[in-house]
Amino acid sequence: MRKLLNKLLVRFGLLITKAPTLLADKSLATSAAFPVELTEKVTVDAATDTPENELFDIFAADTNVHKWHHYFDIYTKHFEAYRNRPIRMLEIGVFRGGSLRMWKEYFHPDSTIVGIDIDKSCKDHEIADRKVFVRIGSQADPDFLAKVNDEFGPFDIILDDGSHKTHHQNISFGALFRPALTEGGCYMVEDVHTNYWLKHVDSEDTFIDLSKQMVDMLHEPYFNRIETNFRHEHPEALKQMDLSYLAANLGGIAFYDSIVVFDKKKRYLPKSELR
Ligand SMILES: C[S@@+](CC[C@H](N)C(=O)[O-])C[C@H]1O[C@@H](n2cnc3c(N)ncnc32)[C@H](O)[C@@H]1O
Repeated sequence: MRKLLNKLLVRFGLLITKAPTLLADKSLATSAAFPVELTEKVTVDAATDTPENELFDIFAADTNVHKWHHYFDIYTKHFEAYRNRPIRMLEIGVFRGGSLRMWKEYFHPDSTIVGIDIDKSCKDHEIADRKVFVRIGSQADPDFLAKVNDEFGPFDIILDDGSHKTHHQNISFGALFRPALTEGGCYMVEDVHTNYWLKHVDSEDTFIDLSKQMVDMLHEPYFNRIETNFRHEHPEALKQMDLSYLAANLGGIAFYDSIVVFDKKKRYLPKSELR
């Protein structure tokens, strides 16, 4: 009876039972430094166009793959450069195997595409003779991840489309970024909008929180140092510095709606010059 009543209320727009619960404290707080012109509400329309790129066409031709449309331009921007040679890709989250097939089609045909999933039935989506492999285990199990890396890694691309639980995203990134991602590799975490949905938040710091901290870590060389420390010919110049592994190996971070991308790149001390 109660279910039926709820259904009717939803039907007539009086109750939105399926709405995700917002982390209001995180989602609504904006600095007073923003002028009102930048924070006032403006109307946004529903998307009408579909992405115009090859990857979307591959997606549209297959079934059993669920992706948000706006991801395709982001994938294309970050993955295009990896297409001209065989790569190794790890995708966390196999579901019905649709995305594994999509990546196989998109990347160089000799590429190795590895999917991991906790659901044993996902093994059926392995196509070993086309170098599409599936291993069963949890993205929250560092020993399992290490085994997958021993067997297939290191990877040029790691894509986390797994449980979308924040502690899983945190553990996988922590376990994989250093040992399992190649120099020049790309680590992408998608569906991070779930970090704002209480159902998925099961850690004190969400993955978005860690990502924001990594923005600070990118700037670690400048903590407590002055500009002349970076002018190589200057007497105050530093020749070496001890930085956290992340600060020393993050080329850049890109934030999009629901996706965060990390480029792995060995860094050198920044150089400043007065000409
Ligand atoms: C969003 S689906 C993956 C979709 C797939 N990448 C695609 O685009 O077609 C998420 C998958 O994560 C898997 N999953 C859930 N918890 C997991 C865990 N702890 N470790 C690995 N995979 C997990 C689920 O079984 C499910 O198949």
